[in-house]
Amino acid sequence: MATMESLIGLVNRIQRACTVLGDHGGEGSLWEALPTVAVVGGQSSGKSSVLESVVGRDFLPRGSGIVTRRPLVLQLHKTDDGQAEYAEFLHAPRKKFSDFASVRKEISDETERITGKTKHISNIPIHLSIFSPNVVNLTLIDLPGLTKVAVEGQPDSIVEDIENMVRSYVEKPNCIILAISPANQDIATSDAIKLAKEVDPSGDRTFGVLTKLDLMDKGTNALDVIEGRSYRLQHPWVGIVNRSQADINKNVDMIAARRKEVEYFETSPEYSHMAHKMGSEYLAKLLSQHLELVIRQRIPSIIALINKTIDELNAELDRLGRPIGSDGGAQLYTILDMCRAFDRVFREHLE
Ligand code: GDP
Ligand code: NA
Ligand code: MG
Repeated sequence: MATMESLIGLVNRIQRACTVLGDHGGEGSLWEALPTVAVVGGQSSGKSSVLESVVGRDFLPRGSGIVTRRPLVLQLHKTDDGQAEYAEFLHAPRKKFSDFASVRKEISDETERITGKTKHISNIPIHLSIFSPNVVNLTLIDLPGLTKVAVEGQPDSIVEDIENMVRSYVEKPNCIILAISPANQDIATSDAIKLAKEVDPSGDRTFGVLTKLDLMDKGTNALDVIEGRSYRLQHPWVGIVNRSQADINKNVDMIAARRKEVEYFETSPEYSHMAHKMGSEYLAKLLSQHLELVIRQRIPSIIALINKTIDELNAELDRLGRPIGSDGGAQLYTILDMCRAFDRVFREHLE
């Protein structure tokens, strides 16, 4: 029997196939049945930084103000050890990016292609895949931050527009929510928790992430939040220390940032007793475990959906009249074969 890791990999491949086929998650689609992870929070709360840490690579535009202006759907594909890392965009399918600084530039350029050099946002997602031996198989979604007021150059509707866009992702039952709140603001004012509570009242699919622990006022700490006394969540809160803007300006790399974060927790008088349950690496592990659980629960419904797709493809092929020589027909056969293969593997996992 294949490992759970490969099961998540399989799900990733199906999601990718769905995307290529133009299925971006309509009602009852295969995509809809598979789990994704989205970051939610106020502007500059550290969403893009947390995603980068979970991935372990520097590739997202970050900074103060509204930097993330289109949804970014990011699929991580674990490849065999020793393989070179690369990234690929759906909008530029034949181009392989091996340098992550150029990935960041392409995200910025592609954002501007739709929104211009403005502070406007767009609902149209950017699809990015990263292939690497050093990632766990996950689909992550980076989203613009929730705001309270429109700034100069933004339409008055922007506050509502962003909230609606974010909600459209996180209200889906298959979406695991990383609710990001900065530790240097009162948790009672957290936009992330407010929205997460609204779309996921039971808290089954919400992970509370507290960023900027290093920026809290001297003499204060976040133990009340992290230990669940301020706001109780189903899953444990995870505290994070991302790179500061000064670190980003100095090009502090991911490995150095991770080391600094581990050191922060291990040497902190407040958090050292729980250092092993803090930080980006622990968050990545928690998420991956949760995803495995969710996928396992979903296997029967995924099989049902794959079979529905097989039936539809067969009907379509019958309508065209077999055998067919056209390119379109050949493509349908390929998809049909792929679905049958998926069905077989999922059934193995069920046994
Ligand atoms: P986003 O707007 O929510 O995506 O937030 P970003 O990830 O772009 O971060 C916004 C700013 O906050 C950047 O300048 C980051 O360097 C900074 N930042 C994020 N997390 C932390 C943290 O844990 N500690 C410190 N000191 N700065 C952080
Ligand atoms: Na920002
Ligand atoms: Mg961002």
